[in-house]
Amino acid sequence: MATAPQQVVDSELQQLARKHLWMHFSRMGAYSADHEIPLITRADGCYVYDEHGNRYLDGLSALFCVNAGHGRAEYGEAAARQVEELDFFTLWSYAHPRAIELAARIANLAPGDLNRVFFTDGGSEAVESALKLARNYHRAHGKGQKHKFIAREVAYHGTSLGALSATGITNLRNQFEPLVPGACHVPNTNIYRWPEDRDPMWAADAIEERIVFEGPETVAAVILEPVQNAGGCFVPPDGYFQRVREICDQYDVLLISDEVICAWGRLGHYFGCEKFGYQPDMITTAKGITSAYAPMGAVIASEKVFEPFSKGDASFAHGFTFAGHPVAAAVALANLDVFEREDLCGHVLAKEGEFRGMLESLRDLPIVGDVRGAGYFQAIELVKDKETKESFNDEESEKLLRGFLSAELYKRGLICRADDRGDPVIQLAPPLISDTEQFDEIHDVLRGVLTEAWEQVVN
Ligand SMILES: Cc1ncc(COP(=O)(O)O)c(C=O)c1O
Repeated sequence: MATAPQQVVDSELQQLARKHLWMHFSRMGAYSADHEIPLITRADGCYVYDEHGNRYLDGLSALFCVNAGHGRAEYGEAAARQVEELDFFTLWSYAHPRAIELAARIANLAPGDLNRVFFTDGGSEAVESALKLARNYHRAHGKGQKHKFIAREVAYHGTSLGALSATGITNLRNQFEPLVPGACHVPNTNIYRWPEDRDPMWAADAIEERIVFEGPETVAAVILEPVQNAGGCFVPPDGYFQRVREICDQYDVLLISDEVICAWGRLGHYFGCEKFGYQPDMITTAKGITSAYAPMGAVIASEKVFEPFSKGDASFAHGFTFAGHPVAAAVALANLDVFEREDLCGHVLAKEGEFRGMLESLRDLPIVGDVRGAGYFQAIELVKDKETKESFNDEESEKLLRGFLSAELYKRGLICRADDRGDPVIQLAPPLISDTEQFDEIHDVLRGVLTEAWEQVVN
């Protein structure tokens, strides 16, 4: 992620941060004498402010999560009411009203018979839980050998060891090996890089080939995002998920839709699978479930997946102390009230064309190779040569993204993601309340910065 070279302001917070705070996925060594830590101190709507009072358009909803936008006092009021009523109780063998109400509300919104909600504290825990649940489900049916899971290359499913095993990003994985056994990876839907005559079902068929290769009696689940984040918003070809569903049914493999990003309006629907018309056996989610006002995640399971755990002395021997925390559940309920009252999904559906059109208008720039995504979740792939689609090598990408783009975008007041976990991309996922004013602002910053990047860095 971006590091922002600026003049050093040795505020007390800067000093304390440099001394004590360990930021995630961050090169802490970069924040020394001449690089100050970007310190966000307040937020409102689509904007955040740093310690100097500089305003930034939050073009990434923090980290694909502040879906309803910043600064909504009613979420805090819901949290405060909840603390007064019941500060905390656990879901280990007990229930509490907000977890019950939220589970019922989510089940009501989720497609088909995804009726059972297992809360977690975040996305990695949700993925971890779904993978364990898949293994446990098959074991309960006397198929304990079914333990492998299939994920896609370059996909990000989290960092805890089980979730990391599903993650398909080599340099995130190999420094922590050995990982959890049983993870298999198949090609993703990076259609921009496919030969033009490739069968659109090629990537779906690769899942079947892998299941057959591994032996269907060993495969528990396939885990896929509706739109794959890492690599830059890979959308599926038409019919991809329908074919995957067929394959999963044929080989008795569970389909997990990892919607840590793609749920809660990001694609214009409560759940990303609705956008592409498929029915998973489980949805994993987090982030926008509370619009990030409190940490929370969930696995939403079908009746079929829940069934073996519904009777006799069976139980899913798995849990987290804080999962389904009453305060987080109260905030999630307040969040869903806002979604309904302001029709945030409808707003995204009404405005996604305009948002995408703004990004498409940047295609005249020599560095813009592709624009892709869905809803308020879009990416621009950067290339050295539009005709040949030649990408940047590691060194060039480092210079372009970390040496220039990240800092320059931030300096000009736009927070977005310049990412090279696949080929270099810029990703945008603004709060779902953003509109023409924010699109114009994004356009102006991107046009300026990408033009300069081409002149100063690429040439
Ligand atoms: C698809 C997907 N799965 C899992 C995760 C992990 O979520 P968390 O960071 O809340 O653990 C993420 C995080 O971005 C994600 O995008």
